[in-house]
Amino acid sequence: MAHSAASLAASPTVARRCSLLAGTIRVPGDKSISHRALMLGALAIGRTEISGLLEGEDVLATAAALNALGARVSRAGDGKWVVDGIGVGGLAEPEDLLDLGNSGTAARLLLGMLATHPITAFVTGDASLRRRPMGRVVEPLSRIGARFVTREGGRLPLAVSGAVDPIPIVYRLPVPSAQVKSAVLLAGLNAPGATTVIEPQPTRDHTERMLRHFGATVSTEPEEDGGLRVTLEGFPEMTAAPIIVPGDPSSAAFPLVAALIVPGSEVTVEGIGINPLRTGLLECLDEMGADIALLNRREEGGEPVADIRARAGTLTGTEIPAERAPRMIDEYPLLAVAAACARGRTVMRGLAELRVKESDRLSAIGAGLAACGVRVAIDGDDLIVDGAGNLPAGGALIATQLDHRIAMAFLVMGLAANQAVRIDDAAPIATSFPGFIAMMNRLGAAIGQE
Ligand code: S3P
Repeated sequence: MAHSAASLAASPTVARRCSLLAGTIRVPGDKSISHRALMLGALAIGRTEISGLLEGEDVLATAAALNALGARVSRAGDGKWVVDGIGVGGLAEPEDLLDLGNSGTAARLLLGMLATHPITAFVTGDASLRRRPMGRVVEPLSRIGARFVTREGGRLPLAVSGAVDPIPIVYRLPVPSAQVKSAVLLAGLNAPGATTVIEPQPTRDHTERMLRHFGATVSTEPEEDGGLRVTLEGFPEMTAAPIIVPGDPSSAAFPLVAALIVPGSEVTVEGIGINPLRTGLLECLDEMGADIALLNRREEGGEPVADIRARAGTLTGTEIPAERAPRMIDEYPLLAVAAACARGRTVMRGLAELRVKESDRLSAIGAGLAACGVRVAIDGDDLIVDGAGNLPAGGALIATQLDHRIAMAFLVMGLAANQAVRIDDAAPIATSFPGFIAMMNRLGAAIGQE
């Protein structure tokens, strides 16, 4: 992929302390919803028109894969895309490898779709994605009847041959993962009868919402232990439907947290998805005493949306329970940066899943904060950050390890650190947030090349 090639030649990108951040902005479309809009559009009958699609490398990889599978996905303007769907069961065998770049969501959800199409496909990704576990989808999808040949440890590249006679399953997720849940549900579309996923803790439900939006029947029932039972009826007639993608709360989080930690700042990010299964970070920041307001709440395209305003102020350390992790799983790098600028101790519990993200995020956060002079410890799956209540030292060069969120989180840290923070490779930011650096600089940040 472009960013791994670029990383060979990349010069560090540096973020220096800035005076204040101010302005009203929009961020790119939600990554999770963008992938699903393209995929479900491809499985619906008719033309789906999408606006606000994230045009980041991850989503473009999904678009290319769907085109290779026989759907027609094309760009019609800024963030505007059209998908001519081929219907459930309509995927055609791709002639070449499907390369999903850096995107775990693209890989796992597409494997779900492929698992119940009687075709063979070969799937790979960049160095980061090839390290990530695919066994978590290979296992349930094999029960449905798909066959896989993977590298050791269930790693990519892999070959998948979809089931000829798929078997609907009831599957209890061993880890809370929206990707695994979605992979099984997408496989269930082309299986007879009901496919059920039981999640130990609710995870983002964009797949379920969008399946309903396209006309499929999905029901949910709470489990006694706090989990959720999600059931999809197979062989639905899915009909094309327009989709408006809200701004990505996981992207909005970067300018918002930057505004909280750079004294004197006030930033508003408009049109952000506030699906309650994505807003764990806002709860944490609220508990830390942050001045954050949700304005102009509304509903767009089946998802709740608001404008979010953040004002700088003093943050105080807090305890984040493990149960909250699924609702903010992508936000820990940034929360750790906020914790480093807060007064007192922040304990973030139950972060095992962070080890299998685009990088081992738990150790990347720990190493990066320590290099910036922050008192930090990893205790089992818990992360403990002792904030001094004043500016962290900074002054480090951070290895981003093909991880866009590590890259952005440490650039945000540099804006509020005594000495500049450098990252070795900013290219991965383009997977989820094209234009991030320019947008931050328009707000008043000082981020640039060495
Ligand atoms: C995602 C689910 C999460 C998240 C990822 C996007 C999705 O991954 O970290 O960025 O779109 O379903 P897991 O399912 O591995 O928790």
